[in-house]
Amino acid sequence: MKVLGIETSCDETGVALYCTEGGLLAQALHSQVELHERYGGVVPELASRDHVRRLLPLVEQVLAQAGVDVGELDAIAWTEGPGLAGALLVGAGVGASMAFALDIPGIGIHHLEGHLLSPLLSNDPPAFPFVALLVSGGHTQLMEVSGIGQYRLLGDTLDDAAGEAFDKSAKLLGLGYPGGPQIAHLAVSGTAGRHSLPRPMLHADTLDFSFSGLKTAVATRVRRGLADEGARADLAAEIESAIVDILVAKSLAALRRTAQRRLVVAGGVSANRRLREQLSAACAEAGARVHFPEPALCSDNGAMIAFAGALRLQQAGSDAFPRGREIGGFVVQPRWPLESLPPA
Ligand code: KG4
Ligand code: ZN
Repeated sequence: MKVLGIETSCDETGVALYCTEGGLLAQALHSQVELHERYGGVVPELASRDHVRRLLPLVEQVLAQAGVDVGELDAIAWTEGPGLAGALLVGAGVGASMAFALDIPGIGIHHLEGHLLSPLLSNDPPAFPFVALLVSGGHTQLMEVSGIGQYRLLGDTLDDAAGEAFDKSAKLLGLGYPGGPQIAHLAVSGTAGRHSLPRPMLHADTLDFSFSGLKTAVATRVRRGLADEGARADLAAEIESAIVDILVAKSLAALRRTAQRRLVVAGGVSANRRLREQLSAACAEAGARVHFPEPALCSDNGAMIAFAGALRLQQAGSDAFPRGREIGGFVVQPRWPLESLPPA
C-alpha cells in the first residue's frame, strides 16, 4: 500500500511516499526559514503563499524520485491540524483534491500524532506501551501511549512550549530564528552554571511544565549586560541546560508514575544533542530505554504524516475513510487536542 503524505502546518512544506511493504520510498522538504528569518518568527500569510508555490512541485519530485506513477497511489494523508489555519488549508486542499480525483481514501492526520509515531520509522522501533515526550515549537506534552490513537495526557505546559523557550531566548540574545539550533550551537563553547537561571517547577509534584519564568530571567540577565562573546556562550549553555534539566526530570517522573520502561521523544526539540545525551544517561540509570526519531525526522516532515496515514489505514481499513466523491470538502483544525483522537 502506497500512501502519499503532505505536511504544511507551519513553515516547512514536506512531502513523502511511504509503502507498507517497502518503507519510506522518497521524501522531499522545503524549509521556509530564510523567508521568515528577517521577521524573527513565522509570518502566517507568507507561509501559506509559499506552501502554494512549493507543494505541487514537491509532490511531482517525490513521485519521480520513487519511480511511482500518481495512479499507483492507494491513499493521500495530509496534516489536518494543529497549526496555522492558512498553511494547513494548502495541504488539506491539495490532499483532498488528489484523493477526490484519484478516487482513493483521503486521511486528515494530527500533526502531533505524526511526531509521536515518527520513532517507529527507525530501525529499532519502540513497542507499545510507552511514555512520549512531545517537544516542538508549539507543544510540550507528556503522554502515556498504549496504541495508535490511545493517548493519555500526563502533563502539559502551562505557558510557553520548550521550543518557544529556545526561540524567545535566542531572540533576546540577538540570535536568529529558529532559536533552538542557534542556542545549541553557541552553547557548545560556553559553560552552564556560570549564570544561574531558574528551572521552574523542577521539583513540583506535577508533570506540568512552565517556561515563561525562564524567559523573563533571560531577559533580565541580558538587560544587565553581557561582557563578551564568552559570556553570551555561557548564558546560551545555561539556557539549554535549564530547559534540558526540566525535560529530563519530568520525563523520568512520568516513567515512574506510569511504571513504564520505554520513553519516546519526538518533535523539533528532540534534535537537541544535550537533551539526547542527558535523557539517554538518565534512562539508562533508571533501567528504561529511550527512543528518538532519526535526526532528519525530528522537525516537521512529510514522512511522519505518510507513515501515520498508512498505520491508520492498515488498522481501520480503507472503508473507514472517505474517498473520491465522498470527499465533499475538507476541514482543518488549527487547535486540536491529541487526546481527542479516536483509537485506531
Ligand atoms: O516540530 P517542529 O519542527 O515544529 C513544530 O511543530 O513546532 O519544532 C520546531 C522547534 C523550534 O522551536 C526549534 O527552535 C526547535 O524545535 N529546535 C531545537 C533544535 N532543533 C529545533 N531546539 C533545541 N535544539 C535543537 N537542536
Ligand atoms: Zn511539528
